[in-house]
Amino acid sequence: MTDQRQKTGRLRLAPENFLSEEEVAAVASQGASGRRDFLRKSFMAAASAMAAPVVAHAADGDPNILGNPPWTTSLGLPVAANPYGMPSKYERNLVRRESPGLTRVSAASVAFTPLQGLFGIITPSGLHFERHHQGWHDVDPSKHRLMINGSEPGFLKQAKVYTMDDIMRLPSVSRIHFIECGANTGMEWGNVAVPTVQYSHGMLSCSEFTGVPLRLILEDCGVDFKKCRYILAEGADGSSMTRTIPMEMVESGEVLVAYGMNGEMLRPENGYPLRLVVPGVQGVSWVKWLRRIEVGDKPYATKDEAVHYIDLMPDGLHRQYTSIQECKSVITTPSGGQMLLDTGFYNVTGLAWSGRGKITRVDVSFDGGINWKTARLETPVLSKALTRFNIDWIWDGKPAILQSRAIDETGYVQPTYGQLRAVRGTKSIYHNNAIQSWKVSETGEVSNVQVL
Ligand code: MTE
Repeated sequence: MTDQRQKTGRLRLAPENFLSEEEVAAVASQGASGRRDFLRKSFMAAASAMAAPVVAHAADGDPNILGNPPWTTSLGLPVAANPYGMPSKYERNLVRRESPGLTRVSAASVAFTPLQGLFGIITPSGLHFERHHQGWHDVDPSKHRLMINGSEPGFLKQAKVYTMDDIMRLPSVSRIHFIECGANTGMEWGNVAVPTVQYSHGMLSCSEFTGVPLRLILEDCGVDFKKCRYILAEGADGSSMTRTIPMEMVESGEVLVAYGMNGEMLRPENGYPLRLVVPGVQGVSWVKWLRRIEVGDKPYATKDEAVHYIDLMPDGLHRQYTSIQECKSVITTPSGGQMLLDTGFYNVTGLAWSGRGKITRVDVSFDGGINWKTARLETPVLSKALTRFNIDWIWDGKPAILQSRAIDETGYVQPTYGQLRAVRGTKSIYHNNAIQSWKVSETGEVSNVQVL
């Protein structure tokens, strides 16, 4: 451990973005500044070289910290007091959040994943972002059906209707993949629009999905794969969510009819009891409450692919069927709304992903893109999944601009805003994968800025 590391930097969440006034008061009265302060204490306690700061902290807060707090001397709660385990009450600020006023009604809105507070690559199911076009339902699985049919006679041997029991008897696979809404970071096309990574990048989650490869089900119905080069997936909710997916994606075996997420059944908000998993493709194609698949010989141009999820290009034309999520990354800590409380060592961490395969490298800049250093990619590094990266940083107290730039296995390099806008203009809503910049001011405040 270096001298500089002993001078451990402190980080805290800016209360105006993350805590209600009441919660700030509660936390302040405990003499703690929230999750990051707790982390700092654990880190210090774990490092014998840092015995002195621990003592110093005990003195400025609760003298019982190194003594006998009640949990060391009394009987704890019984097992199953909490039959379905919930996070600690001290973590109650880490929740999905809606951006007020984003849509006219909440049922057609989005609740963003708090990326700033997560570790590793798996999103806890209760924090998986939710995006609905017309609200969500807790669908009774005994009443749910999946129908497979063809748009023309002769496209399959037999149209079939599957119950959940039928589907769960079929051979299953489990795979870890990210899901990102095509509109993620969409508010930032013109200029800086939101203060935190939760709102700028939080339409992004990564889970282990369990289900049946769609190819198996189509084979079971005797689909003519030569004639049928597209499928149409339809959801059971009132939004009439329908999306075309090219058959080659289904043939690859990657597209799943999934019922499991992170070891249990899907959560209702995420499509319980059945959703489509289309790895690498924008979230809208991951049809929830999946009730019908039609096989056909051409793209369907439904409302959700002709009017929505299209890109307005600089020449005024709309680009349709941009479905694969290009390589992208973001630093999640430190990020907008957080605060560095003093100079010294920080672990800068973030996420990288690509809809075209694995991440091969992430570079990080601390000076707005002039100099770059290669970050550590943490295992596992999986195809079409989030990849966690970390890099050491000593903050000297001077203003800094933090950026990350990801490269995927196709050799594609995440673009700057300047490069992206040169091709796409500024009028798009969807598919913004530009390099994100976080400015650290002399006071330690971290804010969202754009660097061309
Ligand atoms: N499927 C149905 N049936 N209805 C919907 O509103 N929203 C889509 C997609 N599938 C949607 C749907 C959109 S736009 C996205 S980004 C993802 O679901 C979000 O999935 P999640 O809510 O599990 O995060």
